[in-house]
Amino acid sequence: MMRQKPVFIINCKAYENATGAALVTLAKELAEAAAIKGVKLVLCVPATEIRAVCAAVKIPVYAQHVDAFGPGAHTGAITPAMLVSAGAAGTLLNHSEKRVADVAGAVAAAKLAGLQVVLCVQDATEVKIYRNLDVQYIAVEPPELIGGEVSVSTARPELISASAKHCPDRLLVGAGVKNRSDVEASLTLGAHGVLIASGVVRAGKPKDAFLELCSGW
Ligand code: G3P
Repeated sequence: MMRQKPVFIINCKAYENATGAALVTLAKELAEAAAIKGVKLVLCVPATEIRAVCAAVKIPVYAQHVDAFGPGAHTGAITPAMLVSAGAAGTLLNHSEKRVADVAGAVAAAKLAGLQVVLCVQDATEVKIYRNLDVQYIAVEPPELIGGEVSVSTARPELISASAKHCPDRLLVGAGVKNRSDVEASLTLGAHGVLIASGVVRAGKPKDAFLELCSGW
């Protein structure tokens, strides 16, 4: 039986190579790698970079956050309509580094504008709370492992299996994912894909790091 290929969502955060020409180069390299391996890749970029990245690659480009406002007097807001106008196909929402107060309201605003939503949560209880929202994926990431060297599948395997019980059909996991074994273990425990940042974006050779992560599927 053919194994389901994992979905890869790479969050560029605000790392040094997440702006300007460096980001366009990174996006092209990662899109090439995804095409070589035949895996689904979504790239989450800073809002200021969405238009340039969309012009450079065919893979879906997502924002990293959205403010749940319509047009109006909301100084500094990045609204769903702005993201759509820039070319974003979706957005991360409620990332541990950018939590939102009204998750359901923000999801509804994003969906109304036509954005896909990858909803980030911190534990299995939050997976249960939000599992009925109209989102593409729920991504569970233990905050203490984000940006570290130990992956979620190594340190918190029980979190993945508990989350998968609540959300068996569209669970992603992230935090500390660095190599193919982390991806394999995550899928075995019930995830459909992974959310990655530093393991690829901060690697010396991001394309090679990503090729290793998605080899063998
Ligand atoms: O958005 C993904 C992120 O929070 C995971 O970060 O650096 O542990 O892969 P990292």
